[in-house]
Order: sequence, then structure tokens, then C-alpha cells
Amino acid sequence: MAIRKKTAAVPGESVRVLLSRSRIQKRIAALAREIRADFQDEPLHLVGVLKGAVFFLADLARYLPGKVSMDFIAVSSYANGTKTSGQVRLTKDLDTSIEGRNVLLVEDILDTGLTLQYLVRVLDQRRPKRLRVAVLLDKPERREVPVSADYTGFKIPNEFVVGYGLDYAERYRNLPDVSVLTLHGKGK
Ligand code: IMP
Repeated sequence: MAIRKKTAAVPGESVRVLLSRSRIQKRIAALAREIRADFQDEPLHLVGVLKGAVFFLADLARYLPGKVSMDFIAVSSYANGTKTSGQVRLTKDLDTSIEGRNVLLVEDILDTGLTLQYLVRVLDQRRPKRLRVAVLLDKPERREVPVSADYTGFKIPNEFVVGYGLDYAERYRNLPDVSVLTLHGKGK
């Protein structure tokens, strides 16, 4: 696969496409059909996890017919690198209550599972009518805690990915595809 040299703004880093934008769009359209079928014509409240899930949520919302509202939450789990600290902390709470609502938590990637485990616990305590989880990407090999998503876009191998909202030190979120990031000579 072609190396997208133009996007590797920083020397010593390169990216190669893993999931093309068209593949991502097709998969999200199918996920939206599945989600809508499960919730029938009930209102759906999407809760996106900032910032990585922004692109996924925006596309998913556009494929979902019927009543859809949205809110955002933010946690810190990674500092400025590819390794998790193991600590999850809420850095931005929701704007509105989710009590009695059909909530779909929308996350970019399921890695160790620590972030999702924390968020599901926090949101569940707020007594939503139903709480379901959608993730664009899942790295099952990396799981440290037993959590899973109800809707998964793609299972991917244990590699660090960027693009379509996912970052490395806040870079590459704007790439339209999901790409594997390689750090040359820096290790990971
Ligand atoms: P977990 O708590 O280990 O499951 O990690 C979830 C969070 O880690 C995601 O929301 C991402 O912000 C970040 N993350 C995990 N893997 C990657 C990756 O390959 N690229 C970019 N961010 C990642």
C-alpha cells in the first residue's frame, strides 16, 4: 500500500492506509441500519467521546434516520504518546441529563477497554432507559478488562492507528482514512 508522504508532517513518522474512507463510509451506513432496526422509531441520544469520535459520530448521525440528538463527553486516558497511563478521568461532562433516554455511546477505538469500562459505569449510574455502545475500531488483542461494544465497525490488528479523528500527539485527526502510524527510529 502507498505511503502517504505528504501527510507525514513530522520527520521520522509515516502513515499507510489501513481502512479507506469509502470502506469506512459503507461500514458506518450498515451500522446505522443495524442500530435503527434495534431501536425502531424511538429517539436516540448519541454521546460522543471527544475528540476522537467526532468524525465517526458526525457520519453515523447522518446515516441514522428518525429522531437523533447528541452530546459530548471527554476523558483523558492517553497523555502525549501511544501508551495508556491506565488512568481514566472525566475532563468534560455531558450538557444534559440522560435519565430515561436511549443512549448510544460513540467511541473511536476500543483498546485496553479501560476508557469504555469507566464511561459505561459513569453513564449507567445516571439511569438511561437503554445504554448501548458503538465503536468504529476494536483491537481485541489489547484488551485488559472484559468490555465489548454492541456495534463494532472494524476489528483491527494491534497497531497504532491515526486519522478519521484518531490522533498521535494531536496530529493526523484530519486524515480522511484510518492509517497505521510508524515511528522510525523512535520506537513506540
Ligand atoms: P482504552 O482505554 O485503552 O481502550 O483506549 C481508548 C482510547 O485510547 C481511545 O479513545 C483513543 O483515544 C486511544 N487509543 C487507543 N488506541 C489508539 C490508536 O491506535 N490510535 C489512537 N488512539 C488510540
